[in-house]
Amino acid sequence: MPKTSMRLDKFIASQRSDLSRSDVKELCRRGRVTVDGAVQKKSDFKLCPEEAAVCVNDEPIRYRRYLYIMMNKPQGVVCSTRNGLSPTVLSLLPPELRREGLFPAGRLDKDTEGFVFITDNGDFAHRILSPKNHVPKKYYAELEKPWDESYAERFKSGITLLTGEECMPAEFEGIENKNSCYVILHEGMFHQVKKMFEALGNSVEYLKRIQIGGLKLDESLPLGGCLEIMHKELSQIDPLFDGEF
Ligand code: URA
Repeated sequence: MPKTSMRLDKFIASQRSDLSRSDVKELCRRGRVTVDGAVQKKSDFKLCPEEAAVCVNDEPIRYRRYLYIMMNKPQGVVCSTRNGLSPTVLSLLPPELRREGLFPAGRLDKDTEGFVFITDNGDFAHRILSPKNHVPKKYYAELEKPWDESYAERFKSGITLLTGEECMPAEFEGIENKNSCYVILHEGMFHQVKKMFEALGNSVEYLKRIQIGGLKLDESLPLGGCLEIMHKELSQIDPLFDGEF
């Protein structure tokens, strides 16, 4: 990949949500910014983001072109980028993981818990959401009525929703207590898991997404908590990820 160059103020503001470009200009003027160990007073100084060692107030900036975040969404929080009546997943992000352009890649319902993937890399989000890439999403569900032996076969052959829409083949795995199960989907229609069980005459009382691709929701993550997903883990979500974008 050819090396890119970027203005110092743009670079810092893109990595630190708490600093605007004019804040950076002021910090540079006051000698609070260093590049490769030397004070840099010019905020329009050009640098290579992948290579320059930049510090603000003696704190190094860890450059990440894109952010990839795993969140354990609680109930009552919406997967939207807009502020409305309910809190959004973005409003739960800690300051060090905030930046412009982040969005949840794929939505969970307000009353669904679990793994939400948040990124500012639109191409990667598109790849994991597109049904043609078959990135599986695994859910844990608690049902109103016990499941029966027919469910696995019905999920496998593709459930027809009450609206007439056909679902792609999916996987069903019952849990012994008969009111709980795991479901793996390869697409993401609106309210899909709930609608699939409705089509079987059942209903979902609790739903949690526990895995995207091969990446499991970290069990130590409390509800509302999040952590940054590192590059090497991204290939667990999408095996074709080559680290280039
Ligand atoms: N299916 C649903 O019904 N709801 C979700 O939140 C996710 C999948």
